[in-house]
This record gives sequence, structure tokens and C-alpha cells, in this order.
Amino acid sequence: SKGNHRHYMIKEIYEQPIVVAQTLRSYLQRIDDTLTLPIPDFDLSAIRRVTIVACGTSFYAGMIARYWFEQFARVPVDLDVASEFRYRAPVIEPGGLALFISQSGETADTLAALRHARKEGQKIAVVVNVPTSSMAREADLLLPTYAGPEIGVASTKAFTCQLAVLAALAANLARAKGRLTPEDEHAVVKHLSEAPAALNAALAYEDTIKGVAADVAMARGVLYLGRGTDYPLALEGALKLKEISYIHAEGYAAGEMKHGPIALIDENVPVIVIAPSGRLFEKTVSNMQEVQARGGKVVLISDYDGIQEAGSGCLATITMPKVHPLIAPLVYSVPVQLLAYHVAVTKGTDVDQPRNLAKSVTVE
Ligand code: M6R
Repeated sequence: SKGNHRHYMIKEIYEQPIVVAQTLRSYLQRIDDTLTLPIPDFDLSAIRRVTIVACGTSFYAGMIARYWFEQFARVPVDLDVASEFRYRAPVIEPGGLALFISQSGETADTLAALRHARKEGQKIAVVVNVPTSSMAREADLLLPTYAGPEIGVASTKAFTCQLAVLAALAANLARAKGRLTPEDEHAVVKHLSEAPAALNAALAYEDTIKGVAADVAMARGVLYLGRGTDYPLALEGALKLKEISYIHAEGYAAGEMKHGPIALIDENVPVIVIAPSGRLFEKTVSNMQEVQARGGKVVLISDYDGIQEAGSGCLATITMPKVHPLIAPLVYSVPVQLLAYHVAVTKGTDVDQPRNLAKSVTVE
């Protein structure tokens, strides 16, 4: 049931601190602050390549995971949407890990890609929320998320739980490859276990976001910009807004702005900039200023330091708690989800059952 909530989507957004904590319990051992997997003796040390395949929001989780696999484990990653994967004659060397990400575990394209990868001699890892699903049954390495049933068509809590599992998997792979010292491992465990509290803190900004939503609801189109792991989050923000509010939205890598999309900028196209302070902040801010110089209205989602530095001149700012970069994608998902939700509510669309969409896409 929806409990006190008006829609399943908002209920599921609010469940995130609890379900992420629940999910992490199978991947972190707090007794000695070490990482673990549901199948602890699964040998990852020989993996030389990871192929990630998924659709929609689950694909964006995979896109974020690519940064982690490369950064921590130094393992090359192939990434594709499932509906393209099989048809581009992918070069898959035997002995790799093929990783499929799916809330439902039944998405037809992803399942077909899984079967193709098995024929190509890959080990099959599956991050899935429905434990009885086809993908769960066909996995060599089953990596469950414990988000509980997700009813809203727009995926929210499944996404943040996927991110939690993928961060833990990337760190496990790094350890198996001898690239994670025990100190690094303790640090990863510590950062991941801070995610639930940080998600809670992020949820506290719902009222600010409601205010921003009133402006965004009037827009002709919306752009989302981010760099690094915030780039897939920009894509996810745009997808979420399109799905439930029917406003056209695009996500871009912030640096790609000036290669075309900047032509769209005027006062009727709000630009949502996702930019926690840190390594990539200055670069993203300069892209944001390019937007502002052309009369674009910016909503900056950052932490206190980032907003102090770059928040003036924005249409609105949304302050996130200051968190470690590893968990930033989980935390910054919250304002992105809440914004889409409140824009849809403002417009009066059917939030949980948007037109033309099905929760589980079982045709190719
Ligand atoms: O069940 P799956 O994770 O395999 O579903 C994949 C996509 O169909 C799904 O994420 C879709 O994009 C959602 N409606 C996004 O909110």
C-alpha cells in the first residue's frame, strides 16, 4: 500500500535510506569492515574485462559503474544498451565477466543479451531486484538488490540499490585484483555505510525542490548537465522527467554543451546542473557560466561549498550534504527524482502509471 503517501513513486523515494541499508548488509561486513559478496568464494581474480548490458535506468546505473570498475579495478569495461548489444557484433573474449542489471529481471532485450553472452563463454553476473526472475535463475553470480517491490513505473529505489551493489562489486573486483589495500577496503566500507544517513539528509530538501518544480513545470524543455559519474545521472534525470511529466528533457556531459545543445538555451529552457564540489567542479561551473551568459536559467544541485562558490546568479540552488564521491551518485539521485516527481504532480500527470509505459518491458 501507499501508506500516507499520495503515490507509490514518492513512497519508494522515501524508502531509499532503508532499502539501501538493507541491500548493503549482504555486501559489507561491519564486524571487521570488509567487503563480501553473496557468493563469497566466487573467484573474480581472473576477470580481464567486464561487459555491462542493461536498459533504461538500469543502464545508467551501469554507466556509473563503469567509472568505478575502471578507477578501482583498472579493468576495461564495455557498456551497451541491451537492444544494441547483440546486433553490433561485439567482440567478446572468453573468460570475461558479463554483467546484467535489471530491476525486474525480465526485460526481454537484457535477457536475450545475457543468453548471447553465455554462448560467448562469459561468466554471467546479474544485479536484480526480483529474486525469482528469469535473470536471477540464469546467473552464475547472483547479486540481489533488496529494494522490495517497486510499483511506480519510474524506477527510483531500485536504481540507488543497484548503485550500492555495483560500488561494492567494483571494490570486490579491485580487491581480487590486488588493487585494494586493507586500509582502502575499510575506507570503502565506511563510505558506503554512510549512504543511508546521507540519503536521509538529501530527502530533507523536498520543500526547496517543490519550489523549483513550479518553475520547471512551465518549461518548454529542460537540460541536465553533469561530468564524470554525474553525467549518467544527468541522463537519468532527463529520463525521469520525460517519463512522468512529458516535458522534453536531455542529459548531456557538461563539456558537450558547447558542441551543439547550447543553441537551445534561452529563458524557457531551465538547465539543471549536477555538480558536487571536488575534482570536476570548476570545469562544470565554467560550462554553467556559459549557459548563464546566454540568458539560461540554472538550477544548481551541489553541496554547501559548491553553492557558496557558484550559486549566485542561479535561478535556484539545492543543497546536498557533503559526501564522499563514491556515494555522491546515490545521494544526488534523490533531488533528481524529487524534481521529476514534483513537476509531474504540478502538471497533474499520472505519476505511477505514465502513458505508453509498462513497468516491465517483456518484448524486444
Ligand atoms: O526491469 P529493468 O531494470 O530491466 O527495466 C529497465 C527499464 O525498462 C527501466 O529502467 C525503465 O527505463 C524505467 N521506466 C525507468 O524509470
